[in-house]
Amino acid sequence: MSKNTFTFINNRTGKKYDFDILDATRGPSVVDISTFYKKTGMFTFDVGFTSTASCSSEITFIDGEKGELRYRGLTIEELAQNHSYLEVCYMLLNGKLPNADELLGFDLELRHRSFLDEDLKKLIDSFPDRAHPMAILSSGVSALSSFHFEHLDIEDKEENQEMARRIIAKIPTIAAFSFRKSLGIPMIYPDIDRSFTENFLYMLRAYPGGKMKRTKEGSREIRDIEIKALDTIFTLHADHEQNASTTTVRNVASTGAHPYAAISSGISALWGRAHGGANESVIAQLEMIGEVKNVDKFIEKAKDPNDNFRLMGFGHRVYKNFDPRAKVLKSLQDQLKDELNLDSKLMEIATKIEEIALKDEYFISRNLYPNIDFYSGVILTALRIDRPMFTPIFVIGRTVGWITQLMELQGSKEFKIARPRQLYIGK
Ligand code: ACO
Repeated sequence: MSKNTFTFINNRTGKKYDFDILDATRGPSVVDISTFYKKTGMFTFDVGFTSTASCSSEITFIDGEKGELRYRGLTIEELAQNHSYLEVCYMLLNGKLPNADELLGFDLELRHRSFLDEDLKKLIDSFPDRAHPMAILSSGVSALSSFHFEHLDIEDKEENQEMARRIIAKIPTIAAFSFRKSLGIPMIYPDIDRSFTENFLYMLRAYPGGKMKRTKEGSREIRDIEIKALDTIFTLHADHEQNASTTTVRNVASTGAHPYAAISSGISALWGRAHGGANESVIAQLEMIGEVKNVDKFIEKAKDPNDNFRLMGFGHRVYKNFDPRAKVLKSLQDQLKDELNLDSKLMEIATKIEEIALKDEYFISRNLYPNIDFYSGVILTALRIDRPMFTPIFVIGRTVGWITQLMELQGSKEFKIARPRQLYIGK
């Protein structure tokens, strides 16, 4: 038996089977069990994939024990501090940061592609008022595949890049239209003179006809500090290796479905409270707690095994230490405190929860630390973004990750339909 194999012994039969160990460039090695059934006649069983690597990938690395996150080898702290979201997008798609010319070309192309076909606008218009923007967004993105039904030639690299740039550019417009539709107010077309992030805030905030409100001081309505804060939030959400929504995108794409249909499924997967929907739930929960004096009572509820109440924004499947994205957001929150109108009451409650939970045996023993969603809601509220838009903002940031992962799958030797097996326990 070599050091590079893992031996499985079936104690029922005494038979031994060797499986290759594959080494990672960072993080744990894996045991290649792709021949497990063929060799042993049994399946492996891993509900929720807690020990299963579903693919190999060069895009994002997470060390959950250390609280480390890297895109293409660069740390999230370095990227959030020194690079714009569009630079990060370019890097995820192309494997390297852009030079000035490449960034300009990429930026201009996204601006030009941000418009929607009028028929798609009509479709969005036909949703009921007060529909949740996530429902409109996932349907709108699925419908986008009927407007751009080409994009199916996975061998064509240029076509793939165009497909990726198109979806990254259009998602903010669909998200902003979805929001305005949910309020029953007229949609605002993209403004090509504004940057990616500024344009999104503009499409949310402008009055019909594109007019912007002037502040008392007569300054521009969208402040640079707001653009920077939202841009950082997009960067922090850009990719997160094989999370539930990315795995969904890969699984749907593995059948050969249209890339935008796969992204639409990722949006649906993200919506749940256990995943991207948590950012909306955090603020709802802070408001429900209402007063600092009530925090203890809710901490006790979260610890009670007979109560299914959970502290939203706490815990993570992979991070067993502070979520590094949460650290960046916490320091962003501190920087913004004086500049933006951060809700001091919500912040006080959040600070108290964090203070208690970080010292409490229940949370310590289960490695439950604040995750990205714990902080993003307070910042988004200060940016005057309504709560139902929190998860769509996660979608905007994550689209580049989904599409990069999808293209990686399509270009790899592992491109194979995802088809797990089961332990049958029925009649
Ligand atoms: N509050 C209270 N207890 C918790 C919490 C929480 N937020 N999260 C986990 N626990 C407890 C569980 O009750 C369980 O306790 P037990 O061992 O006594 O039964 C233990 O910690 C392990 O929990 P699991 O649910 O098994 O952990 P899992 O890795 O499956 O879940 C998840 C991770 C879904 C993120 C979970 O921590 C959670 O529900 N958190 C709240 C929702 C949230 O913030 N989601 C955002 C995740 S980040 C993102 O998607 C961007």
